[in-house]
Amino acid sequence: MELNDVSALVTGGASGLGRATAEALVRAGAQVTITDLPSSPGEEAATALGGGTRFVPADITDEATFNQALDVAEERGPLRAVVHCAGRGGDRLRIVDKEGNPGSLESFEQVLRVNLVGTYNVLRLSAARMVGNEPVDGERGTIVLTASVAAFDGQIGQTSYTASKAGVHGMTLVAARDLAGAQIRVNTIAPGIFDTPMLARLRQDIRDGLAASVPHPRRLGDPDDYAQLALTLLQNSYVNAETIRLDGGIRMAPR
Ligand SMILES: NC(=O)c1ccc[n+]([C@@H]2O[C@H](COP(=O)([O-])OP(=O)(O)OC[C@H]3O[C@@H](n4cnc5c(N)ncnc54)[C@H](O)[C@@H]3O)[C@@H](O)[C@H]2O)c1
Repeated sequence: MELNDVSALVTGGASGLGRATAEALVRAGAQVTITDLPSSPGEEAATALGGGTRFVPADITDEATFNQALDVAEERGPLRAVVHCAGRGGDRLRIVDKEGNPGSLESFEQVLRVNLVGTYNVLRLSAARMVGNEPVDGERGTIVLTASVAAFDGQIGQTSYTASKAGVHGMTLVAARDLAGAQIRVNTIAPGIFDTPMLARLRQDIRDGLAASVPHPRRLGDPDDYAQLALTLLQNSYVNAETIRLDGGIRMAPR
């Protein structure tokens, strides 16, 4: 898909991977709309990104507000590209703790709600807009979702996060098959350890240790690494139904 002048929506666009992707899309000439929580610095991000970028506050788990973001994106032309980066970290809970108490079901549900139910909401509502587009070069639209390497190598304490991200990986093939008739592609990026605000709360020595555990290149992922792959997935019309690990070759240890 040619991105110049195309209307593109980025969720989680106020921060981290989403913000870097929005920046890359603006550079590629797309008409970019970002959406993020009302409490996020989305307005500042949109101003800094330039290129007429619009910010719409929305919760990805909420149909009404997410539809408002889609409405604004459609004011800028038929929505053809969506990169879904909004998400949250896990709850670092053992299934049974040291005192023998079972992990919190409420906490598990909250992580699944944002990362998995939210992803399905973004997927279904975005695709519902794209099916009405006129095809260009055989495509009506394309969607990139975000999982994590935790979908494959979940660490102890990551039960909820891993379950949510494995769900995103699992729905990728089904969604691509389901939407193939509508000429919409769906792919997923499974990032390793990226240097974003989500990781910034960790101590520097822990961050250094994480960087040293990446086989090659021996560094944390840069949000621009993610943005570059997201744009490739939007642009390359033969990539479909794929989850791509973007991780410098890391395989997470049990803890
Ligand atoms: N940073 C990493 O190392 C890493 C690794 C693997 C996967 N990921 C995934 O990448 C995605 C982006 O992470 P990031 O590192 O850029 O984090 P981030 O915290 O910098 O950005 C995530 C954004 O999502 C927004 N968000 C959270 N819940 C939301 C909701 N309900 N509705 C709308 N917006 C919401 C937040 O406000 C935030 O701006 C997440 O899905 C995360 O799980 C990140």
